[in-house]
Amino acid sequence: MSGRRGEVHAIEWRDGSIRILDQTRLPGQEAYLDLHTPEEVARAIRTLAVRGAPLLGIVAAYGLALAVGRSSARGPRGLLRDLVRAERRLLLSRPTAVNIRWALARVRAAAEAAIVAGDADAVRSVVLAEAQLIAREDELSCRAIAERGARLVPEGANVLTHCNTGALATGGPGTALGVILAAHRAGKRIHVWVCETRPLLQGARLTAWELGRLGIPHTVIVDGAAGALMARGQVELVIVGADRIAANGDVANKVGTYQLAVLARHHGLPFYVAAPFSTVDPGVRTGRDIAIEERDPSEVLAPLGVQAAPNGTTAENPAFDVTPAALVSAFITDRGTVRRPFGASLIRLGRTAGPWLPTLRAERPRRGLASAAG
Ligand code: MRU
Repeated sequence: MSGRRGEVHAIEWRDGSIRILDQTRLPGQEAYLDLHTPEEVARAIRTLAVRGAPLLGIVAAYGLALAVGRSSARGPRGLLRDLVRAERRLLLSRPTAVNIRWALARVRAAAEAAIVAGDADAVRSVVLAEAQLIAREDELSCRAIAERGARLVPEGANVLTHCNTGALATGGPGTALGVILAAHRAGKRIHVWVCETRPLLQGARLTAWELGRLGIPHTVIVDGAAGALMARGQVELVIVGADRIAANGDVANKVGTYQLAVLARHHGLPFYVAAPFSTVDPGVRTGRDIAIEERDPSEVLAPLGVQAAPNGTTAENPAFDVTPAALVSAFITDRGTVRRPFGASLIRLGRTAGPWLPTLRAERPRRGLASAAG
């Protein structure tokens, strides 16, 4: 499942099942998992076999396609009941990435609209088509983010990033990592500092794997080294992704992001957040209202199965933190780059049509595009 010049596809719909690249096995093994039921999808999400906010939205949407595909309901209303049951299960899989909820709601709305006119098979087709549309839109939105963001990366820059925001986390080339790739492909000689991203090492395992395949110069650092590199003048900018952006611009992202933003501000460096609008949650006013996932302490005490603390030690394991909007230099989104003050301008931009509409119209001239505009 690899595409153009080292780009990887982390997910594929295969006529009734979802094939994912099992990210828990990388970089040692490129192994695939075939998911056949919403329960298997929820498990893959919980265990981080599939991860990254935009990709979570896509896999959750396909999870509903599995639910209706397997449903024995003969009529559309019975089908909708099975879909809603699967939606509830998938909603519980991980709490922070709003893309899951956003994608599930979008697919359900498409199914509800189809029920009025269609029989059960028509609803099944609509559900799958909506999931495929979400995936395609995310790919196009990554490309829009990448193109915009690349302009902000100076020639010769050392770019510091956290966690994994590339093709393994999205339906396209990535958000923050997509920006890095676009700058590299534009011929800028850049180098990437990759924070290893404790405790599950999405930076060291996944980002370094992607950058290696893409031929982008990079160096892995322990998370605690970021400040020292900035103090030595070895970082020009920081760019990260997001799991949820509140209406006021506060950002939930992988734990460790907040301290990078504080350090960037202290050292006078730009701190950019790259994300599609599917990650903006206008329903939460500030970061204080964002649910932060608490994961099992064993991930900290025995990372990747290697004991790192004495038996009986306790650990705290929040998977995400919240960076206040005041520390963000700009949001690089699929619909434009937004600078401070964020609140009103972010929400206003979110109401505009996605840049992918002309492409989608050209691809499917007869598709009902109402939902694609949202
Ligand atoms: O726990 P993860 O690996 O799903 O966390 C992922 C992140 O924090 C990413 O930065 C975020 O989802 C953006 S991915 C484009």
